[in-house]
Amino acid sequence: MDVSVVILAAGQGSRMKSRLPKVLHRVAGVPMARHVHQTACQFSNDIHMVVGHGADQVKQSFSDTASHFWLQEEQLGTGHAVAQALPGLPESGVVLVLYGDVPLTRAETLKKLIGQVTEQTMGLLTVELDNPAGYGRIVRDEQGQVVSIVEHKDASPEQLALTEVNSGIMAMPAWMLHTWLPRLKNNNAQGEYYLTDLISMAVSEGMSVQAVQPDDVEETLGVNNRQQLAVLERWYQQRAANALMAEGATLMDPARIDIRGTVRVGPDCLIDVNAVFEGEVDLGAGVRIGPNCVIRNARLGDDVVVEANTLIDGAVLGDGATVGPFARLRPGTELATGAKVGNFVETKKASIGAGSKVNHLSYIGDAVIGEGANIGAGTITCNYDGANKFVTDIGAGAFIGSNSTLVAPVTIEAGAFVGAGSVLTKTAPADQLTVGRARQVTVKGWSRPVKP
Ligand code: UD1
Ligand code: CA
Repeated sequence: MDVSVVILAAGQGSRMKSRLPKVLHRVAGVPMARHVHQTACQFSNDIHMVVGHGADQVKQSFSDTASHFWLQEEQLGTGHAVAQALPGLPESGVVLVLYGDVPLTRAETLKKLIGQVTEQTMGLLTVELDNPAGYGRIVRDEQGQVVSIVEHKDASPEQLALTEVNSGIMAMPAWMLHTWLPRLKNNNAQGEYYLTDLISMAVSEGMSVQAVQPDDVEETLGVNNRQQLAVLERWYQQRAANALMAEGATLMDPARIDIRGTVRVGPDCLIDVNAVFEGEVDLGAGVRIGPNCVIRNARLGDDVVVEANTLIDGAVLGDGATVGPFARLRPGTELATGAKVGNFVETKKASIGAGSKVNHLSYIGDAVIGEGANIGAGTITCNYDGANKFVTDIGAGAFIGSNSTLVAPVTIEAGAFVGAGSVLTKTAPADQLTVGRARQVTVKGWSRPVKP
């Protein structure tokens, strides 16, 4: 059966105390509602989002997806919310209801839930909680069949003692929603249209309700405040760390790594504490990452070494390259095999040839450096004239003396030797010494000033 998904994302989330709509707060760098959407995409291509508070912002953040949006102007309850999407839902097939603030449900769990649905059966995701306060309680009959959900505020003292609760996530044949949502009443403690009333309606019409449990309770946890957001963040990160170790990486402390994206590792990578990975990161075999590094959208070849406190962003590093400590590689940086970028060096749109070294205190931007070049401490490529950017071209085997200023566009030919402290605005020819600085003079007969 085809599956349509309705994601409820209209609530305000006032306890977040935020200018951002709650469902756009991020877990592992991705907005919560986006996690839900990505999971739903694994089994559905008909996704409906019910938006309300911050509707424009939420819609905007999904503008790259083929989702349907339904505006719920007033938040009159979960049943009312799903009803907003009714005109877009097919008459047949399965509908799965998800919450935009319950981000980490596994696709496998939801597939299991959807698997329960028949024309006469709905599926309900429930969990056992030590402290069920606030949740809708699952009421079962003597045979153990689910018969209704009672909201906390409507529950009797006996019902309040029940510890099996409604996660809110449920799946049903589409016809049930078309038939019963228009019949929901709001004569309850909160004056809301409860989606959960569908359960007793189904049972009274002879349908059955199958409850399914997730592997982990965290899969059903919603976020109402920033503490709960932090709990889910840590749970996510712990799983991500376990997955990396399962792939053969050594983590010096699995509690001190953050993955906000996807990290692929070859065998025997060693990651020291406080590494943050963002976007798509690929690590070859035997990569070593020192403490306190941030690595974003980067590909590191085999045996690359990244020393402490280094930021790598949008860069490709060849086998055996070494970087840091305290280096900053910006987008468009490419290090060939065995290249070396040392402390307090910033690179941007720079291609650095095999075995070349930029060891200390340099800015290398819009530059192409051949193989085996040595760029002395404090070398600066002046790539920007205030309006346009220009390229510095440094040939293989060139030697740039310390504290040189290379005013682009400029070429340093292969094997050129540039004297320390040079300011170069013209080509430095191959295999010759070029010095671009004032000559040193010693003034004869100079005498030290004296006080009158
Ligand atoms: C709901 C369930 C309860 C369950 C709990 C799990 C109902 C009546 N109750 O309760 O059984 O244990 O979730 O967390 O369904 N939303 C809208 N529009 C609305 C109302 C809600 O979009 O008019 C969205 C919220 O943004 C949220 C989700 O639906 O993402 C759940 O709403 P919430 O108010 O938290 O439901 P509860 O009362 O906690
Ligand atoms: Ca809730």
